[in-house]
Amino acid sequence: SNPSLLILAGDGIGPEVMTQVNRVIDWIGDKRGLAFDVSEDLVGGAAYDKHGTPLHDDTMAKAMEVDAVLLGAVGGPKYDALDFSVKPERGLLRLRKEMDLYANLRPAQCFDALADFSSLKRDVVAGLDIVIVRELTSGIYFGEPRGIIHEGNERVGINTQRYTESEIDRVARSAFELARRRGNKVCSMEKANVMESGILWREVVQKVHDEDYPDVELSHMYADAGAMQLCRWPKQFDVIVTDNLFGDLLSDAAAMLTGSLGMLPSASLGAPMANGRPKALYEPVHGSAPDIAGQGKANPIACILSFAMALRYSFDQGDEAVRIEKAVEKVLADGLRTADLIGEEGVEPVSTEQMGDAILAALDAS
Ligand code: NAI
Ligand code: MG
Repeated sequence: SNPSLLILAGDGIGPEVMTQVNRVIDWIGDKRGLAFDVSEDLVGGAAYDKHGTPLHDDTMAKAMEVDAVLLGAVGGPKYDALDFSVKPERGLLRLRKEMDLYANLRPAQCFDALADFSSLKRDVVAGLDIVIVRELTSGIYFGEPRGIIHEGNERVGINTQRYTESEIDRVARSAFELARRRGNKVCSMEKANVMESGILWREVVQKVHDEDYPDVELSHMYADAGAMQLCRWPKQFDVIVTDNLFGDLLSDAAAMLTGSLGMLPSASLGAPMANGRPKALYEPVHGSAPDIAGQGKANPIACILSFAMALRYSFDQGDEAVRIEKAVEKVLADGLRTADLIGEEGVEPVSTEQMGDAILAALDAS
């Protein structure tokens, strides 16, 4: 049977960019003979409007069964006043939690045509292609004890960084597996100089490497030095693996090496399923962009590249992923820009649909 894909377009620009992804999926089916069993469902505010919950149990069950989930974006001002328990982002959080997606892959890839759009010099970023693997389900955002307590006559805010060996082990494996499909190089970042969890992190990553991935080149770096190196010469890296907190910061910084939020895909992977594929959710990094929703201005590339990641990591179709990435590269080289990619005056932006048209034309020519 065909590989299965659950599409959750969500809110705001989510459905607008997903329309263009659907065209790419149809193209891959028609022209490359790679058909998917696609089902669509609601998430976020759209699900709340229909069911009174941001993720229906049936949708959750479907997500657990399919080979991959592709999500647009959730949220919007219409839902800001809702109770926390039914807020749109809770739908996304539930997916991540119940699918136990512990490895968050955030590529920082710089298309040559956009190198001048980066906040760094062209030399430093042109052709950049790295991935940050951020541990997503543990660490200081979840560790106990936590809270604000009274101590003497003042209050103390407490969070606890906590990592078990198995949590470090599994995310390290995700990073090594990923590196084998790319440049075969992993840099692990922590602060073993000042943190106990950092000492354990370094030890476990090294052990996983020595036992099962000796062919992959491994280095260790303190996360603060890593932040500096990421800005100084990011091309020295291939895969970076780090904890939840450092990964949050480093991946946002790395994102800005490459330009616009409208360009950034992501994947969140969990444990391998019975068929050997990891549980997986693919989504653009951006949100529902209420400021431009409904105006046909959204850049569909982040969501299209998220589908390309699904082809690569869930469906073993790396060649087709490259084909899509090359088509994106071609339209950018041809000078096509959605509004978010325009820095200087005098360039006329194209619409979401026109960008989709151009990418399909580039695919046709590939
Ligand atoms: P946002 O990512 O939606 O927008 C930030 C800025 O970037 C806006 O100016 C927007 O117009 C622009 N932008 C984002 N994606 C774009 C695209 N594809 N093309 C062109 N421009 C783009 O973040 P913001 O404004 O902080 O949040 C808006 C809503 O989205 C909130 O309800 C927030 O909770 C939600 N959100 C959802 C996320 C998700 O679904 N994973 C992630 C981040 C925010
Ligand atoms: Mg962040």
